[in-house]
Amino acid sequence: MLTTKKFTDLPHPNTLNVFLGNMMQLRKERIHFFVEQQKKLGDIFQIKVPTRKVVVLSNPEWIKYVLVDNNKNYGKSFAYDSIKLFLGNGLLTSEGEFWKRQRRLAQPAFHKEKLNLMFRNMVEQTDKSVERLEQFADTNQAVNLSKELYKLTLDIVNSTLFYNEVDNTTDTIYKLVSEASEYITKRIDNPLHLPEWIPTPTRRREKEVLKYMDKVFFSVIDRRRQQHEQQEDLLSMLMDARDEETGEAMSNQQLRDEILTIFVAGHETTQIALGWTFYLLTQNPDKLKILTDEVDSKLNGETPTPESIRGLHYLKQVIDESMRCFPPAWIMGRKTIEADVINGYEIPAGTNVIMPIYVVHHDERVWENAYEFQPERFAMENVKEKHKYSYFPFGGGPRLCIGNNFAIQEMQVCLAMFLQKFRIDVDEDFVPELDPLVTLRPKNPIYAKIYKRK
Ligand code: HEM
Repeated sequence: MLTTKKFTDLPHPNTLNVFLGNMMQLRKERIHFFVEQQKKLGDIFQIKVPTRKVVVLSNPEWIKYVLVDNNKNYGKSFAYDSIKLFLGNGLLTSEGEFWKRQRRLAQPAFHKEKLNLMFRNMVEQTDKSVERLEQFADTNQAVNLSKELYKLTLDIVNSTLFYNEVDNTTDTIYKLVSEASEYITKRIDNPLHLPEWIPTPTRRREKEVLKYMDKVFFSVIDRRRQQHEQQEDLLSMLMDARDEETGEAMSNQQLRDEILTIFVAGHETTQIALGWTFYLLTQNPDKLKILTDEVDSKLNGETPTPESIRGLHYLKQVIDESMRCFPPAWIMGRKTIEADVINGYEIPAGTNVIMPIYVVHHDERVWENAYEFQPERFAMENVKEKHKYSYFPFGGGPRLCIGNNFAIQEMQVCLAMFLQKFRIDVDEDFVPELDPLVTLRPKNPIYAKIYKRK
């Protein structure tokens, strides 16, 4: 008979400090820590940190078990408490029946027919971005490509889901989101923080960031309430929704949490994915050539349509492979509600279960030469054999990213239209150093030189 092993039997990294356990290593090494420990300890190990039980999983079958098969026993991990402080109780952080109802309300905004309607809008915004870049073309002057992509993805979310209601500059939003990300990461990294009421300088700045976010997003709601014409965007859908039992509309606070969540989740990740894709294509001119040939031959110089873009198979493979190499959401976490057993080990109730997407995407047992960019891996015949959860940039199960198709479509439009017009050479001095906060940003912005294609 199989006996269940105890949680304390799980292997763990050497601890340098009895009290802090692995906390300092984790904070210093971040992604590298997970990659190295998986090599040393295998697909399941515990990490010692004060006040929390943490187990790390990198076996696709066990990840599927947590996200899909037994998802009812898993809530969101401690990290989401910090995210909640800024984003509130929106789709990303809410749980249980409340989350289910909110998801049901928001889901229709992302249906295929709606995405087809948004396509035009994505093209229009990308056209504007192309115009902005044209000014730099052939000047030999390097542009801040990260910043341009940030503006583009922000404008796309704003115009497709909020009818351009979020009137703010890219710089302000970038600063707010970056600061919030840093504060969230600091809180995640440090389980020993002081009580909330102690007004440290960081706390004071956190409050200011929050106040500013509130100002931007509550005024979006106010403005919409004062309008008389009906819009058909996500904001209106959420505002018009009524509770089935009580007939009540969502409160302003709930609306603020939902729209801020979608606004933040909807642009940062896609911008990061696009930036890394241009970097990878510059590094791999042979792959860039295959892609450009496909775009030229299938689109024939025409503006893409929802149908024509779906015919660009290599483009989709490039996007998939880019998110394998640099998954914009590099880590996910859950917490057991009741005790469970994974791979024969008892996982007590309240244990944080960390799934480092980055590690799974670079597992040499599944992805040969995992650090090489090979879009062909995602050709239909090559992915057939792979476990579904050996690649999961958008998470999985009922909490799968609501914007996954939106993001893919947006990337397809941007990449195809940029490549129709330009050759984009990412600065050869760019060092692909990772800055793994909540998302996998590059440490420094990506600069590129732009050349008009003849
Ligand atoms: C490349 C782009 C994107 C990536 C890699 C990405 C990744 C993810 C991941 C991994 C999750 C699951 C988190 C978890 O289960 O703990 C998630 C959830 C979510 N994402 Fe995305 N995302 C992207 C784009 C978008 C876009 C464009 C939107 C909206 C316009 C969006 C909105 C959301 C929301 C609201 C959730 C929470 C869903 C729920 O729990 O019901 N994301 N995303």
